[in-house]
Amino acid sequence: MRFYIATDHAGYALKEFTKNCVRELGHEIIDLGPDNADRVDYPDFAKKCANAVVADEGSFGILICGTGIGISISANKVKGIRAALCHDAYTASATRAHNDANILCFGERVVGKGVVESMIEAFCNTKFEGGRHSGRVAKIEGCSLGADLE
Ligand code: RB5
Repeated sequence: MRFYIATDHAGYALKEFTKNCVRELGHEIIDLGPDNADRVDYPDFAKKCANAVVADEGSFGILICGTGIGISISANKVKGIRAALCHDAYTASATRAHNDANILCFGERVVGKGVVESMIEAFCNTKFEGGRHSGRVAKIEGCSLGADLE
């Protein structure tokens, strides 16, 4: 799997640890910044990562801010992105299986390193189940179009 990662200043301290977790599982990770812990705006980095994931079909993203909330809300504004704010291995696995999530988000002020490791493992090792979930995932895109996909 190929991942793109970005954070804001409040997620910066977990970035290197997170990159190592991904690499240890044998996957590729591309760092989209920031390069230091100076104050930045999370929507700028959410957009950078979301655009990279959309442009590189089949790739995934990881976004970290203080809570994971602002950065996930921002990423979900980009068409084709399903960014999931996760808190544990269960939610990280379930969002791949049911929502076909393509960006994993979490909050540095919320989760510890052990949880990060377990979420990444769960996210990487779970495939989208398709079936009854496919129509629902299609309807997610319909929401932003205002379309009524019956
Ligand atoms: C930054 O202080 C903080 O607001 C941000 O990282 C994030 O938690 C927003 O949702």
